Amino acid sequence: MQTLETLSGVAFPQKEVAPLFLAPMAGVTNSVFRRICREKGADILTTEFVSADGIMHRNARTRGYVEFTDMERPMGVQLFGSDPDRLGEAARQVIDWVRPDFIDINFGCPANKVVCRNGGSSLLRDCPLLERVAAAVVRACAPLPVTAKIRIGWDDSSINAVQTARLLEGAGIQRVAVHGRTRAQGYSGTANWEVIAEVAASVKIPVIGNGDIADGETAVERLKTGVSGLMIGRAAMTNPWIFTEIRSTLAGESFQHPTMEDRWLLVRRHCGEEVVARGDERQSMQGMRSRLMAYTRGMPDARPLRASLSAISSLMELDDLIAKHLHEHDQDHIASPAEILH
Ligand SMILES: Cc1cc2nc3c(=O)[nH]c(=O)nc-3n(C[C@H](O)[C@H](O)[C@H](O)COP(=O)(O)O)c2cc1C
Repeated sequence: MQTLETLSGVAFPQKEVAPLFLAPMAGVTNSVFRRICREKGADILTTEFVSADGIMHRNARTRGYVEFTDMERPMGVQLFGSDPDRLGEAARQVIDWVRPDFIDINFGCPANKVVCRNGGSSLLRDCPLLERVAAAVVRACAPLPVTAKIRIGWDDSSINAVQTARLLEGAGIQRVAVHGRTRAQGYSGTANWEVIAEVAASVKIPVIGNGDIADGETAVERLKTGVSGLMIGRAAMTNPWIFTEIRSTLAGESFQHPTMEDRWLLVRRHCGEEVVARGDERQSMQGMRSRLMAYTRGMPDARPLRASLSAISSLMELDDLIAKHLHEHDQDHIASPAEILH
């Protein structure tokens, strides 16, 4: 069996502990945010999903999605598509461009524009094609590891994650992340960790559990399902310290939650780095609006704050808003992502 350290391309500092993955999230997990999450304890990072066709067309925007810095390693590039050969060629192209530590295949995206082209979660309904896609990418990337991310099935009446994971293992996939929802659920309802546990018990490759982890205690509980690692998405958007919290809880240590000031400092830094990365302050800040909504979830007096943030276009405006909010609410309670998600 492959070990996790082989999989990620580099040795884990503490390989006996379960690795924490930042979930790939389109429009969210760019290089700036990935580096923030790495600093807060995310062990393994992945790009958002990137179209194999976009890679083949050498689209400049697509190229931007797959780039990363060395400090993000171990780092994977996630691809989606439905044509085995094109996906294989796209993977090879990405390897030549940026030399990632692994290639990840997306078999979970529920979006109509992906599903109607037979990509993402659509392949959960077509296991023979899913197997061919996986095998083609594994062949094209060898010896680089290829991993996959799936949902538990297409809908409630076709939950097939165990079968899918076995096929993927047989095709040479070296690690599978399972989001415990069906495609039909989208992001509603709750993640089904019983199915994730069944997958973990059914294959020899490492299984990474994903869905609704928003605090340290939940993470400890989820690890009891037998998964080899945990993947965290939306909670990190609101609170990147989630990784530090989970790591502390797993070690039996107490965790000091970030203060309001800590949060704002991070928000300011994130925005500042986006402006530097994109070079256009107005565009960057407009692009950050939805991220600011996520960061301020659970903050006191959120409604007027979010109304102002939704129209923000400069760092100076942000500084003024932060100063005002800190002045008024420095000591107030911030609802945790767990309180918000549940
Ligand atoms: C805004 C957003 C974008 C996402 N984009 C991707 C993606 O590009 N690739 C992918 O595999 N999953 C994507 N996902 C799904 C997440 O990786 C993850 O599986 C899901 O959010 C459940 O985990 P969570 O409960 O920790 O958020 C996305 C989720 C969100 C909220």
